[in-house]
Amino acid sequence: MNFLLRSMMTGLLLVSSSAMAIGTTIISTSPVPLDMTGKSVASVKWGSYLVNGIANCGSCHSTVVYKTGTDPFKGQPVEINTATYLSGGKKYANNTITSANLTPDATGKPAGLTFDQFRNVMRKGTDPEDATKLIQVHPWPIYKNMTNADLKAIYEYLRAIPSLEMPVL
Ligand code: HEC
Repeated sequence: MNFLLRSMMTGLLLVSSSAMAIGTTIISTSPVPLDMTGKSVASVKWGSYLVNGIANCGSCHSTVVYKTGTDPFKGQPVEINTATYLSGGKKYANNTITSANLTPDATGKPAGLTFDQFRNVMRKGTDPEDATKLIQVHPWPIYKNMTNADLKAIYEYLRAIPSLEMPVL
């Protein structure tokens, strides 16, 4: 077996940061393995850092954030619950609002949205199903200050995470 093949099988990434990658890989800031097919490593890495290190999307878009017995607020070592990671389903405003499933749909689009729709959600709070409505709770008035490159990176990261069904609470 040649070196390249062996490295790919062990999940090592040999491509330069600007190149498109293939296969599954692990990025230290992401709790889930990533499908890198056709994605920029640099963009996905930055997106992971924003989603997992700064923007805290999981606090609202994951129903059970930590695995049982790994609650950092009880002094336990933290481990993110990958079973509900970013798959939405959290209820707000007396159960009238549900956080969206951000994982890729069957066509690979995060939350089923094109990048333009996603950018409008993040910048203007536009409801993708009804442009006359503003989505609630989701902090778009804050996220609107992110750059296009940031939003693109988040979108690319969300394209790379495993697809999950939204839990029904
Ligand atoms: C404070 C809680 C909260 C945080 C933090 C949050 N969201 Fe949301 N988000 C929501 C809720 C609730 C909805 C559903 C709003 C509605 O239906 O009115 C939503 C909706 C969305 C939608 C719209 C999906 C659709 O199809 O309608 C997208 C996309 C989205 N969020 C992405 C993100 C990303 C990416 C992050 C992190 C950068 C994030 N959200 C952080 C609560 C949050």
